[in-house]
Amino acid sequence: MKITKICCIGAGYVGGPTMAIIAQKCPQIQVTVVDLNEERIATWNDEDVNNIPIYEPGLSEIVKEARGRNLFFSTEVDKAIDEAEMIFISVNTPTKTYGKGKGMAADLKYIELCARQIARVSTSNKIVVEKSTLPVRTAEAIKSILDNTGNGVKFQILSNPEFLAEGTAVQDLLHPDRILIGGDTTEEGQKAIQALVDVYANWVAVGKILTTNVWSSELSKLTANAFLAQRISSINAMSELCEKTGADVNEVARAIGMDSRIGPKFLKASVGFGGSCFQKDILNLVYIAKSYGLNEVADYWEQVIIMNDHQKRRFSSNIVKTLYNTVSDKKIAFLGWAFKKDTNDTRESAAIYVADDLINENAKIAVYDPKVSYKKVLADLDYLQTRTADKNAESIVSFENPYKACEGAHAVAILTEWDEFVTYDWQKIYDAMQKPAFVFDGRNILNAAELEKIGFVYQAIGS
Ligand code: UDX
Ligand code: ADP
Repeated sequence: MKITKICCIGAGYVGGPTMAIIAQKCPQIQVTVVDLNEERIATWNDEDVNNIPIYEPGLSEIVKEARGRNLFFSTEVDKAIDEAEMIFISVNTPTKTYGKGKGMAADLKYIELCARQIARVSTSNKIVVEKSTLPVRTAEAIKSILDNTGNGVKFQILSNPEFLAEGTAVQDLLHPDRILIGGDTTEEGQKAIQALVDVYANWVAVGKILTTNVWSSELSKLTANAFLAQRISSINAMSELCEKTGADVNEVARAIGMDSRIGPKFLKASVGFGGSCFQKDILNLVYIAKSYGLNEVADYWEQVIIMNDHQKRRFSSNIVKTLYNTVSDKKIAFLGWAFKKDTNDTRESAAIYVADDLINENAKIAVYDPKVSYKKVLADLDYLQTRTADKNAESIVSFENPYKACEGAHAVAILTEWDEFVTYDWQKIYDAMQKPAFVFDGRNILNAAELEKIGFVYQAIGS
C-alpha cells in the first residue's frame, strides 16, 4: 500500500515536529496535522514562522519550507481523518489525576476519544499509528474500539514510538538512532508495517528501521525512558554522596563514562530530571508491574522517581540552609524555568518544585528564562494547587532581562542549562547583588574558580 495522505491527531511537541520532518522528506505525501485546540493551530499557521507554538532549533525553517506545500495545520479533524490512509495519534497521555491508578496510570481518555472519532468518520480502510507513549496493550484497546464501533472498514494498528528529545527534536528526527515499528504478524499487519517503513525509508537507512510485534514496541519505549531516567537518578544519588565525601561528581562521571560498557552520555548530575516523559512513563511502568502483582519490579523502578523527588527537595532545602536558615522576604533569582535548554517546554521542570518549596518559606522569586513567559510560570505553579493564584503572583515575578532578575538578589539559582548563562558578565551580576552573594548551580554549568574569584559563594551539585 502506497501512502499519499497522512493525518496526525495532536499538534503538540511530538506531532508537530515529527510531521514537519515527514512532510519535508516526503514531498509526495500530503501531511495534515489536526488539533482541537484552535489557538494552537492558529499559531502553527501564523504568517511569521517564528511564532509557531513550539520552539525547537531548526524547526521554523522546516515549517517554512513545507507549510502550504504538503504540510497543513487544521482544526477540521473529521475531514483529515477521512481523507488519510494513515493516521498518527499524537495526543497527550498525562498521568491520571482521578480514580483508579490516580497519580500513576496513564490517562487514556484522549486516546479513546481519538479512536472513537476515527471509527465514526472513516469510510475507507486505515492504518492507525500510535505515536504517543502508551502503556503496553493500548493498541489492543484501540483495535477493539475501532473494530466494534466502525463502519465496517478495516483498521491496522501500528505502534511507532517517538524517541525524539526536546531541544534536539529536529536532529533526532533527521538522524534517528533507530525507528521502531510494531505491528500484527498477520499478512495485513505486515503490509501495514511495510507502508510505514516506506515512509521512513525516504530518509532513514533501512537497517535502522526495526520491526517487532506491537507489545514489544510499546514496552520498548517505556523501557528506554526508564533506563535513561535511571541513569540520571543513579548519578544524582552519587552526587549526594560526593558532597559528603569530598569526591567530585563530574570527575566520577568522567571516570565511569570511559568504561565502554557504561558510556559517557546521560551522566550529568542535576537538580533532577523533568519533562513530560520520564516520570509519567516510569509511573506507568510501576502501575503496570503492580497490576500484574510484580511488586519487586514495581518498587525497583519507583526508586528512580523517589530519588528524583529527593534531589529537587534537597536543592531547595540546601538553599534555605545556606542562606542562614531563612529565605523569608529574600529575593532569589532563577536563571531558567524550562525543563532543559533549547525548549520552551516546562512540564515537570525541577524549577517549578524548587520555586514551590522556596515560596513556602516566604521567598520572593525572580525568574528569567529566554523562552518561557510569565504566564506559563504562573500557570505551572497554580497547577500544583499549593496556594492561591494571587499568592503565587505575589511571590514570583519574571524579567526579560537576566541582569534585572538578579538585581538585589541574595542568591542566584541555575535551573536550566541554557548556554547563554555561561557567557554572562558575572562581575556585573555580583556587583548588583546582596552580599554575601550565592550561586546555586543546579546544572553544574558555571566555572567555580572564576565565580569564587569574583567573590561569589558557589555551590554546584555533587562537589
Ligand atoms: C526524553 C527521552 O530522551 C526521549 O528519547 C523520549 O522520546 C522523551 O523523553 P526529553 O524529556 O525531551 O526526552 O529530554 P531528555 O534530554 O531526555 O532530558 C530529560 C531530563 O533529564 C531533562 O530535565 C534533563 O535536563 C535531564 N538530564 C538529562 C539530566 O539531568 N542529566 C543528564 O545527564 C541528561
Ligand atoms: P506531546 O508532548 O505528547 O506532543 P502535547 O500536549 O504537546 O503532547 O500535545 C498533544 C495535543 O493533542 C494537544 O495540542 C491537544 O489539544 C491535542 N489533542 C488531544 N486530544 C485530541 C483530540 N481528540 N483531537 C484532536 N487533538 C487532540
